[in-house]
Amino acid sequence: MRKNIVAGNWKMNKRFDEADELVSGIMDLLEKQELPQNTLMILCPPFPYLEMCTDYSNDSYFAIGAQNVNDNDRGAYTGEVSAEMLNSMEVEYCIVGHSERRAYYGETDAIVARKVDQLIKNDIRPIVCCGEVLEEREGNKQFEVVRRQITDGLFHLSAEQFANIVIAYEPVWAIGTGKTATPAQAQEMHAFIRGLIADKYGKEVAEATSILYGGSCKPTNAKELFANPDVDGGLIGGASLQAEDFVNIAMAF
Ligand code: PGA
Repeated sequence: MRKNIVAGNWKMNKRFDEADELVSGIMDLLEKQELPQNTLMILCPPFPYLEMCTDYSNDSYFAIGAQNVNDNDRGAYTGEVSAEMLNSMEVEYCIVGHSERRAYYGETDAIVARKVDQLIKNDIRPIVCCGEVLEEREGNKQFEVVRRQITDGLFHLSAEQFANIVIAYEPVWAIGTGKTATPAQAQEMHAFIRGLIADKYGKEVAEATSILYGGSCKPTNAKELFANPDVDGGLIGGASLQAEDFVNIAMAF
């Protein structure tokens, strides 16, 4: 059975002491109330806080993910972080192709594909983001865009490699805007993505892939989003910065 996943993408937020407080707040809440069965929580802090978070995660309440990785092995890439480094710090997941990286840092589908390769080579599971911008949705191009992102970013993988992939559908118009996709819009796109995976790798691989929704997911709307058969959890931005909100979202399965 595929996993339900709630991943918190902190983006570029919080000082170290605030980040520490957030993780210990999450731990306190999870000590009182266990996560629903088959639910995995992942925290994706900024790079400098990874070690603090992996130290906490030794108790296995949650797994740790990075927000980005470089697409080269190692070497003279000032300021960059490799998949090998992440692996050596017990990081298990990494977000790739987030719309903010695509929009501000020129992350193309080809770069996404190379980052995914680096992560898989280093035993880190990629959380690969896809999603259309508002004009594309208004022009009814959302399926075309997501098909391209998934095909060009991921379909060079073997079925065995693809088994490591988590997908996050994040309509860009819903990210940080307070505008959430309706449960029906999310379900429609998630079913479409699962169909693409089934066509390429077969039904069994498609059924085993967790597909998360992202974009203004909150404690108040998580339940109706997660109730859809093809929505296997969420990639949470704003609401993951507050322990109670984030844990409440994880309890929504
Ligand atoms: P949001 O961000 O929950 O703040 O909309 C989601 C994301 O960008 O992953």
